[in-house]
Parts: sequence; structure tokens; C-alpha cells
Amino acid sequence: MNTIEREPSRLAVLGAGHVGPVIARLAVKAGYPVAIATSGDPEDIALITELVIPGARPRWASEAAAEADIVVLALPLHRFGDLDPARLDGKLVVDAMNYWPASDGTLEPFEEGGSSEIVARRLAGSTVVKALNHIGYHELEDWARPASDPDRRAAGVAGDDPAAVAAIAGLVDRIGYDPVPLESLRAGRVLQPGGPVFGVVLTRPEFERAVDRETRSLT
Ligand SMILES: NC(=O)c1ccc[n+]([C@@H]2O[C@H](COP(=O)([O-])OP(=O)(O)OC[C@H]3O[C@@H](n4cnc5c(N)ncnc54)[C@H](OP(=O)(O)O)[C@@H]3O)[C@@H](O)[C@H]2O)c1
Repeated sequence: MNTIEREPSRLAVLGAGHVGPVIARLAVKAGYPVAIATSGDPEDIALITELVIPGARPRWASEAAAEADIVVLALPLHRFGDLDPARLDGKLVVDAMNYWPASDGTLEPFEEGGSSEIVARRLAGSTVVKALNHIGYHELEDWARPASDPDRRAAGVAGDDPAAVAAIAGLVDRIGYDPVPLESLRAGRVLQPGGPVFGVVLTRPEFERAVDRETRSLT
């Protein structure tokens, strides 16, 4: 599989808290045109964006999404309901969110199973890929390495649409990780909190071993 995109897509990162700016920074560094948004006025993040994510453009969320090929959801899951699914129709969506009751509170629909499967059902007009959710924001930045680096780490990319998984694998590769494709959003449950690769930054062989064991029990 060729995981390298021919042309960098336009990225919209929705969420400018902990992980959103890191994803945006890595993507700018990798040559992507990047817009970043909160739920509010882009003016409010203009200065901080210029300082910490030079090259990224603060935008209203609706505008960032409309102009993007790939939309990265980097907002807390309990705020996901605020997004209008129609605004993401036709987009390739990276779900970097996790269900984290300590900060999300209890969200009944997410208590069982796979959070990205629920996200994908709500975003029925989008193609959803689960990625960039399982590495903490500090580590995500610190462990990013070029493809040639022998100490490069792995990141999972799960989805039901193989072309979408390949495209996001390309993104993951360009921003500094060995992408490990997983064949469905359901299989992507291994990337969730409590799963074998959540919060640990593994090499590809370590990652594949950990995930293989777990996916066998999910299928
Ligand atoms: N922290 C990590 O290391 C890490 C790593 C990987 C994945 N994740 C996952 O990524 C998600 C975000 O985590 P975080 O730690 O970055 O959260 P956070 O620091 O609380 O930041 C959340 C950001 O989302 C914005 N936001 C909220 N509603 C929005 C909306 N409707 N549209 C656009 N932006 C919106 C918030 O801005 P306003 O409130 O101003 O709108 C804020 O900038 C979580 O699901 C988390 O599990 C986190």
C-alpha cells in the first residue's frame, strides 16, 4: 500500500486545547495547509496561534471545515454534540477524540463499545477514521520522527473505508509516525483508553504484537 499522499490535503483542526495545536504544528511542519478553530471567534486564538503554531490559520470552525479536505476532531467528546454533522458532509474526518469520563462526565451512549463507531454514525455524510487519539500530546510531539529514523514509533489508523485509511496513514506518516492500518472502526477499539496501545508509544513491531493479540479477541 502506498501510504504517501501525492499532494498535501488541506487540514482543519477543530479544537485548540492540548492536542489540537500539536497536531496542527506537526501538520504545518509536514507541509500541510492548516486551519485551526475552537467553538468561538478565531480572533480569540489569533495571537496564540501565531506564537505556538506559526503557519496555521485561525478560522471559524464552520469555515475551517468547509475549506478542508481532512477535518481533525480534537475537541472533547462531551462537546462533539455541538458540531453540526451537515458541516462535515463529504469530508474525511479524523476522530482523535476519546471517551474520558473523568473530564467528559458520563455519556451513556459511549459507555459500551467503540466511541468512533458512534461518532461515525452521527457523521453519516462523512468518512470517519480513528487516529491520533492514543498518544498523549506531549509524546505526540516529542516522538515524531522522519521515516528514516530507526527509533520511529507507530500510530494506529482505523476505519471502514480502505482508501480513507490509506489517506490518513499518509498523514500519520508525514507527521512522523509509522502508520499501522486497522481494518475497521470496530478494530480501532484497541486504540481507546484501556486498550493495549493507549498512552504508550511503541515501535511498529511492539504495536503490531500488542494489537494483534487484542484484535483477535474482537473479531
Ligand atoms: N490531551 C491529550 O494528550 C490528547 C491526546 C490525544 C487525544 N486526545 C483527545 O482529544 C480531545 C481533546 O483533548 P484536549 O486535551 O486537547 O482537550 P482540551 O484541552 O479541553 O481542548 C479542547 C478544545 O476544543 C475546543 N472546542 C470545544 N468545542 C468545540 C467545537 N464545537 N468546535 C471546535 N472546537 C471546540 C475548545 O475550545 P472552546 O471551548 O473555546 O471552544 C478547546 O480549544 C479529547 O477527546 C481527548 O481525549 C487528547
